[in-house]
Amino acid sequence: MLRTLPDNSVDLVFTSPPYADQRKNTYGGIHPNKYVEWFLPISEQLLRVLKPDGTFCLNIKEKVVNGERSTYVLELILEMRRQGWLWTEEFIWHKKNCFPGKWPNRFRDAWERILQFNKQKKFNMYQEAVMVPVGDWAKHRLKKLGKNDTKRLESSVGSGFGKNIANWIGRKMVYPTNVLHLATECSNKQHSAAFPRALPEWFISLFTRPGDMVLDPFAGSGTTIEAALDMQRQAIGIEIHPTYFELIITKHKKKGKQSLQVEEQQGPEHISSPECWCEPELDYKDQETGAEVWVHRKLQ
Ligand SMILES: C[S@@+](CC[C@H](N)C(=O)[O-])C[C@H]1O[C@@H](n2cnc3c(N)ncnc32)[C@H](O)[C@@H]1O
Repeated sequence: MLRTLPDNSVDLVFTSPPYADQRKNTYGGIHPNKYVEWFLPISEQLLRVLKPDGTFCLNIKEKVVNGERSTYVLELILEMRRQGWLWTEEFIWHKKNCFPGKWPNRFRDAWERILQFNKQKKFNMYQEAVMVPVGDWAKHRLKKLGKNDTKRLESSVGSGFGKNIANWIGRKMVYPTNVLHLATECSNKQHSAAFPRALPEWFISLFTRPGDMVLDPFAGSGTTIEAALDMQRQAIGIEIHPTYFELIITKHKKKGKQSLQVEEQQGPEHISSPECWCEPELDYKDQETGAEVWVHRKLQ
């Protein structure tokens, strides 16, 4: 399916792939030792379909194997850099509501990574779209300014970044950090690994404008594509599991607002050759709103 998408056609890829060997009972898993080998052909296609100024965000977290954190995510980052990606940033999704637990050698896992990859150093980023209220920090910090606060101070570690604290006086909104504090919302999603809608929403706001194209190659219950369409972006989702695929279509039909093109893939391979696909068929058309659902099924 990915192979059928045109080069340089996507503004944002936002996805959460199956993690290594997890959730085998629901939608399969890949052995940690095979994960990088499995993922690289997919990231190669994503590199091809992403526009030069686009962004790829990968939600992933290594599991613990034999009492040790697995290293496949770190290895994947290194291999993707060799493949041509820039590893621009790492965001942390702090899961505010993770349930309590006791483990002999660690504490409960309350965060996941969102790895940001780009094709080039200059990419589209609309920082104003994700500004946050300045918060209590300003009340104390800006009340009494020292002599170093009123001039630009360059970073002492040579990072090239500087700061002028006085610039923030009177500002109501500031730029956020790279830590997102969001609760998980699995209970109402009919999918065991759905992420909260606020997660793709935040990155869609940051990296795209209305009309831009968002791709989720592991669509699951369709959280990313639903958020993208509601935010007036275009969206493509790919999902291998027929149950989740149908779930996306059903949810979409219920909304009956936008048109959606989804692809159902039934083979074991993520990337199939274009010849294996039927012509897209109109699956459903809402008479009142004119919304259309097109389905592109793979030949058996
Ligand atoms: C972590 S879940 C994504 C959940 C999604 N973010 C959501 O909010 O519902 C990963 C999804 O990838 C799908 N998947 C696994 N292997 C796939 C493949 N080779 N091609 C397409 N989808 C695949 C699984 O069925 C699963 O629904």
